[in-house]
Amino acid sequence: MHANTVIGPRGLPISFQVRDLRVEPGLVLAPMEGVTDLAFRRLVRAMGPVGMTWTEFVPGEGIARGEERWLRMAAFDPDERPVVVQVYGRRPEVLAEAARLMQDQGCSAIDINMGCPSKKVCAHSGGSALMKEPQLVAEIVRAVRAAVQVPLLVKMRAGFDHQARNAPEIAWIAQEEGAEAVTVHWRTRADLFSGQRELETIAAVVDRLRVPVIGNGDVVDVQSAESMLRQTGCDGLMVGRGAMRNPWIFVQLAAWLRGEPLPRIDSAQRHQALLRYLDSCQEQFSQSSRGRHGDPDRATLGRLKQLCKHFLDDESDGGEARTAVLRSETLAEARSRVAECFAPAS
Ligand SMILES: Cc1cc2nc3c(=O)[nH]c(=O)nc-3n(C[C@H](O)[C@H](O)[C@H](O)COP(=O)(O)O)c2cc1C
Repeated sequence: MHANTVIGPRGLPISFQVRDLRVEPGLVLAPMEGVTDLAFRRLVRAMGPVGMTWTEFVPGEGIARGEERWLRMAAFDPDERPVVVQVYGRRPEVLAEAARLMQDQGCSAIDINMGCPSKKVCAHSGGSALMKEPQLVAEIVRAVRAAVQVPLLVKMRAGFDHQARNAPEIAWIAQEEGAEAVTVHWRTRADLFSGQRELETIAAVVDRLRVPVIGNGDVVDVQSAESMLRQTGCDGLMVGRGAMRNPWIFVQLAAWLRGEPLPRIDSAQRHQALLRYLDSCQEQFSQSSRGRHGDPDRATLGRLKQLCKHFLDDESDGGEARTAVLRSETLAEARSRVAECFAPAS
């Protein structure tokens, strides 16, 4: 565990520090392309404090060329603090330029993606493919480190495949070149989004590094948070899909870590949150309607369906309401299906 990590009443970390940046609570929202846009991050932050939020990843090449579409994707609210912009790519000088431009926009920290499993990203040797090229990792981190003054983070998987769970080595290289925190998702690239939970590799990263380590992968409730923290000794937790199911997860886990009772969220609060998200999405897409999103209602419908796959998981009718929302053809139809989900049973 890192020296500046604060331990709470349960003997588990409640906050940590990335150089001079305090992350409190030590619970952060994962970057998720197509999900963690401004509207989603506003939704999560409206529920209570989140240690840090990440933008969706953006290509270093597109940012360095100043392309409007990617700049918009990396945008954040002035009061969204601390906020991390994540870049991906393989050319050190391009990533350095992109990081410098994002620093000029006022982000709190830069993160380099070394975990994305997508063929499109790996084909250009960005994302998790970088885990096979330690020398290039060193060059990228060195170049980006030299280009920015804000804290620098790196996010990776446990390895590229089961034979090469080399996160401890890659994370150490990143640290030696100037990365000030590392996030590790327990899956390898070969696991994609399934696989058997394996926390030893994250524990080995924690053992090897001086800088804080953020544990990631299937943290969805108190039990999964506690086992990740106890079994790995990591300094903080990153939550992705768990926040789509339950945007209050940060508030709940923070309360639990402080030894307080878990805030309970009722169905009316969940309904209100979903409606607020819908309005925020529509506003976001209306403002960029001449951009790549086209019709704002269609774009909002897409995001709503994406969220509801997880958000409505817990509703009590065996998934029928969720299916109805997912089958909706228009936003108006989806809104009425959502209202039915939360209507009191007669
Ligand atoms: C829809 C989706 C999009 C994602 N996009 C990104 C991304 O842009 N950058 C990144 O580093 N990881 C991305 N991830 C991976 C997550 O950040 C996280 O590492 C992974 O989902 C495991 O955490 P979880 O089990 O809490 O969801 C994405 C995951 C999902 C499900």
